Amino acid sequence: MLDKLITEFDRGLRTLFAPAVSSRPRPDHAVAEAELTAEEKQHTIGLMRVNHCGEVCAQALYQGQALTARNPAARDALRHAAFEEVEHLAWTEQRIRELGGRPSLLGPVWYTGSLAIGVTAGLLGDKWNLGFLEETEKQVGAHLDSHLQQLPDQDAKSRAIVAQMRDDELKHADMAHDFGAAPLPLPVKGLMKLTAKVMTATSYRV
Ligand SMILES: [Fe+2]
Ligand SMILES: [Fe+2]
Repeated sequence: MLDKLITEFDRGLRTLFAPAVSSRPRPDHAVAEAELTAEEKQHTIGLMRVNHCGEVCAQALYQGQALTARNPAARDALRHAAFEEVEHLAWTEQRIRELGGRPSLLGPVWYTGSLAIGVTAGLLGDKWNLGFLEETEKQVGAHLDSHLQQLPDQDAKSRAIVAQMRDDELKHADMAHDFGAAPLPLPVKGLMKLTAKVMTATSYRV
């Protein structure tokens, strides 16, 4: 257990303070940079900062869940999804920097909270753990769809990144479903939406 904790602690520090790497090519690698006004750029940085923060949370959630998941097949699936989340982390961070912004300063706060939620979900047992995961991924997918409506039309680079992330998240939701996710009670879903709202509102700005 101590070994596991040290590994997870190390992963946490890397998520927060080291640049993430992607093995897939970035979804926008063949897309040209568009002309953006200063206002559009600021808005895009804000949106991408929210998405980056979401990916920091995803790291913590998956870690917490992988620490506690009992079914080895589910644990492997969680690891694979977590690997794609690291790529999302890399893409969003790089895009923020290209636009001249920096990631949210609140990363460590959201990371710690998400890790606690992930461990709690994991302790409740695999079907709830996976249920929580499926619902999270669905909500994130819907949220990314709303960003596709809000991003400047001509910013095909940011749009390509967000579209690929949306597709990946929906795949993660299906995976959790196939492994036997339990449907969450309505109030829990509501609470998750509320938490996400606070996170998105703050990380857009700070
Ligand atoms: Fe993601
Ligand atoms: Fe995901």
